[in-house]
Amino acid sequence: MPSPASLWFGGDYNPDQWPEPVWDEDMRLMRQAGVTLATVGVFSWSLLEPEEDRYTFDWLDRVLDLLHANGISACLATPTASPPPWFTLAHPDALPVTADGVRLTHGSRDTYDVCAPAYREASLRITRALAERYAHHPALALWHVHNEYGTHTYGEHAARAFRTWLRGRYGSLATLNDAWTTAFWGQRYSDWEQIHPPRATQYLPNPAHLLDFRRFLSDAMRGHYCAQRDILRAANPDVPVTTNFAFGSWVPVDPWRWAADLDLVAVDVYPDATGEAAAHQHAFAADLARSWGGGRPWLLMEQATGYLGARVRPKAPGEIIRHSLSHVARGSRGAMFFQWRASVGGAEQWHPAMLPHTGADSPVFAEVCELGALLGRLAEVQDTRVVEDAAVVWDPESWWALQSPSLPSPDLDYLAAVRQVHRVLWRQGRTVAFVSPHSPMPDLPLLVVPLLYLTSAATARFLADYAEQGGILVVTYGSGTADEHARVWPGGYPGALRDLLGVRALQHYPLDPSVDAVTVCGEDGEYWGRARRWSEELDVADAKVVARYADGPFAGRAAVTRVGRGAGQAWYVSCDLEDAGLGKVLSRAGLSGGTATPPAVEVVHRDSRDEQWVFVLNHGNGPVTGADLGLAVESREVLSGVSGAALVVPAGGVAVLRGPRRP
Ligand code: GAL
Repeated sequence: MPSPASLWFGGDYNPDQWPEPVWDEDMRLMRQAGVTLATVGVFSWSLLEPEEDRYTFDWLDRVLDLLHANGISACLATPTASPPPWFTLAHPDALPVTADGVRLTHGSRDTYDVCAPAYREASLRITRALAERYAHHPALALWHVHNEYGTHTYGEHAARAFRTWLRGRYGSLATLNDAWTTAFWGQRYSDWEQIHPPRATQYLPNPAHLLDFRRFLSDAMRGHYCAQRDILRAANPDVPVTTNFAFGSWVPVDPWRWAADLDLVAVDVYPDATGEAAAHQHAFAADLARSWGGGRPWLLMEQATGYLGARVRPKAPGEIIRHSLSHVARGSRGAMFFQWRASVGGAEQWHPAMLPHTGADSPVFAEVCELGALLGRLAEVQDTRVVEDAAVVWDPESWWALQSPSLPSPDLDYLAAVRQVHRVLWRQGRTVAFVSPHSPMPDLPLLVVPLLYLTSAATARFLADYAEQGGILVVTYGSGTADEHARVWPGGYPGALRDLLGVRALQHYPLDPSVDAVTVCGEDGEYWGRARRWSEELDVADAKVVARYADGPFAGRAAVTRVGRGAGQAWYVSCDLEDAGLGKVLSRAGLSGGTATPPAVEVVHRDSRDEQWVFVLNHGNGPVTGADLGLAVESREVLSGVSGAALVVPAGGVAVLRGPRRP
């Protein structure tokens, strides 16, 4: 996909919520802010098709023409995330059903059953109508299918589709019964029709059943996406197609399995923290988005300009710019927001926007304009590559498996564990590539595998190959425990990875975070930190002890180990060490490179054959200089023209330097 002439900057634009005279003001202010892309029509189905097969496109024609006349491109959505009330009344079976058997009703959005034939048919009808009318509109730059796929449904349509999916996966009931361990509690299936979605049941559900249903739903939604994508592509193969992944404390679909079907990965990012933690969450999501697409350019499709209850914490002045640049630095084709103009009514009337209720004379709009001007100078960064220096395995299936009620501890928090590893590397100035456990590991010097609860034999082989070939592998607690069907690997933990790591845990010893903590010290007695949720009684086979438990039930026993494997090494961290201790492990793992950055300063490098770009985001309270960061003397800051040597980035500020590539 060729790079657009400028970075994409803008947001969801809902002119359908406003009288037409407001549209002219929108255009004037968008131009003032430097907006280059507006996302239109995301929830406009009831307005575009007020009754079955009757369309009212005139208003959308005017919107697209107006955008084009003002030099702004359109990211045109298919509105299938919000079926009209007439549709759900005509097809009540197309409404989602919860696990408790409650059929939801319209009145909000996302009231669809992705498996319902009527919904599928209606989705394709509106998609076809949009494709026929707009596929060659000069404003059209990007198709945006649906919005944040993720509505679960447990009704009869889902049951039928689930059975078909299971037949495809297992072939025979005997194989399924074995994979799901249905011998337990006498749950053997003797006919496919006996299998339901994991609806509310009397006591604990089967973890393998839960896990496969999540896999199935992700595939079912992907099928819905692909059917629309095919229509849009056929109408004009030159316009890229995407959908926006939701990402936060939940992961409704498996982006590894979707990414190849998207021309451009797009992601919505709403951190639930403030300050440095929010900056880190942006960097974390951005590294994931780039990695899902295998390093291809991607797009930050949505973020907020400010406060939204518990979901998005307030932003301090300067954070709109810093957070956006963190994404651009990490490969986003721009920075988009939800939404352009704040709504006065409706469910999201208090959602922050680029143009707040207050109007254009607001600090938020001023910062938005500043961001637009800055992005306007960065178009050429699109042709450079993000420099990565460490890899982390990220696995939505392990995350789903760890949401089952049948676990060795209720305190195993997958997202927290992966975020922690990323945070420690981020603070060490490293840029992380995430990798799927289902493919060979990348050629990067360090690979961290946090809490990979599900580890298939194939994944264990990929990890062993990585170490054999010279990589430094660091595996953390809880990994290797179960296979792809959530069945425990017998013989001692960490199951599938025991031989590779040269250790064998005789027992897990979960800690109660409200009362317990165990101390870990290096072999020289140096204090490394504490663990509060998890520890293990570890026997060492051929590994070397690097750190030990200093107190608690396993005082004196190994806590962290290392073993040479081929040309590389394999480390094991048997407890949930806090950041400082994990930092020691990762720096002692012998990794060189990275940028030694002052605290709270984020530095990302991008390069091309001849050039290097350096993004410096100062999230801290004091200034940072080019000398502090070892910046090349001959590089120049893009806006100010100041040299790398003379650069001073004030507290809260940003700088983007461009210079010749260093050998
Ligand atoms: C996203 C969604 C938007 C808007 C936004 C609010 O999840 O795609 O439509 O609701 O959240 O933060």
